[in-house]
Amino acid sequence: MQHFWQRLNPPFFVLAPMAEVTDIVFRNFVLRYSRPEVVYTEFVATKALLARKRQVSLRRALWFSEVERPIVAQVFGADPAEMFASAQLIRRLGFDGMDINMGCPDRRVERHGAGAALIRDPPRAQALIQAAKAGLDGLPLSVKTRLGYHAIETTAWISALLVAQPDVLVVHGRTRQELSAVPAHWDEIALATRLAHDAEVLCVGNGDIRSREQGEDYAQRFGVDGVMIGRGVFGNPWVFAPHADRREAEKLQALADLITQFSGFWQTTKNDQILKKHFKAYVTGFPGSSALCARLLASQSAAEALDTLAAYFHHQGWPFPEPVYRRLKH
Ligand SMILES: Cc1cc2nc3c(=O)[nH]c(=O)nc-3n(C[C@H](O)[C@H](O)[C@H](O)COP(=O)(O)O)c2cc1C
Repeated sequence: MQHFWQRLNPPFFVLAPMAEVTDIVFRNFVLRYSRPEVVYTEFVATKALLARKRQVSLRRALWFSEVERPIVAQVFGADPAEMFASAQLIRRLGFDGMDINMGCPDRRVERHGAGAALIRDPPRAQALIQAAKAGLDGLPLSVKTRLGYHAIETTAWISALLVAQPDVLVVHGRTRQELSAVPAHWDEIALATRLAHDAEVLCVGNGDIRSREQGEDYAQRFGVDGVMIGRGVFGNPWVFAPHADRREAEKLQALADLITQFSGFWQTTKNDQILKKHFKAYVTGFPGSSALCARLLASQSAAEALDTLAAYFHHQGWPFPEPVYRRLKH
């Protein structure tokens, strides 16, 4: 039987996994504005997922709602037995697919041999893919990775992965060393795609895509089956729809909506760092944006942040989205 990835029309669009960002609240927020064909959860450690003590809070990271389907759970780990058990759990939780992260440069992840460290250990990467496939028992497996560790080594690394036959490859067009500091190498993503297609594996390209139109253009030029967007969704939840450029007032209304959605999580799961990323992305370029951003960040609650935003709207002479505001205040 075909898995869901095979039934998507190319080029399909995918919301990238982003730790502490793409949780159930944020994903549902984005889906109200535009519709990627696939969404990914934030990543979760296989070890922690299986450990009894932290199970409840970690499984919370894997909460999802039916409207989000098809949804893929991303995990990271370096132990094949744990990968097998995690895959079984992901299947039981009802996900449409699982992804193994083989690109995260965070030292806390790499220290355990997981994430980008796997690029230096192809035999382990292959063992993890095989273990995951056995645990998933027919549910599709994707692997999200980079082009190499210190240097671009697309052919060697991607070919090694393909030996273990994941169903889908997601290729972020940079090396581990490059982090996000240089433009993504889409010509190398094209090479990875050709290798994947020769092995009858689907390939999704990722890196620097900021609109549906750009994604469609890149898909045609570089041959990928799908396009994954991460940072492009900050300040622009319309990014998966055509013609996503929005007027300033509309952007601020979306920000008011986002703040409302975050109200129960203010300063807890949605900490300063995350809130700042979102706020900056919405208000940059507006008159007095730094002061507005600082005031929003200083807010002790979502209601207070909405007051700040309402005052800003008033100052600009724009109508404030009253229904959202009233719902939160009463
Ligand atoms: C805040 C943040 C968190 C991220 N967390 C993850 C993660 O948990 N797993 C993962 O595979 N990639 C993660 N990434 C990388 C993105 O999924 C994506 O590969 C990268 O941002 C490049 O794509 P973009 O140019 O569309 O943002 C993260 C990126 C950001 C900005």
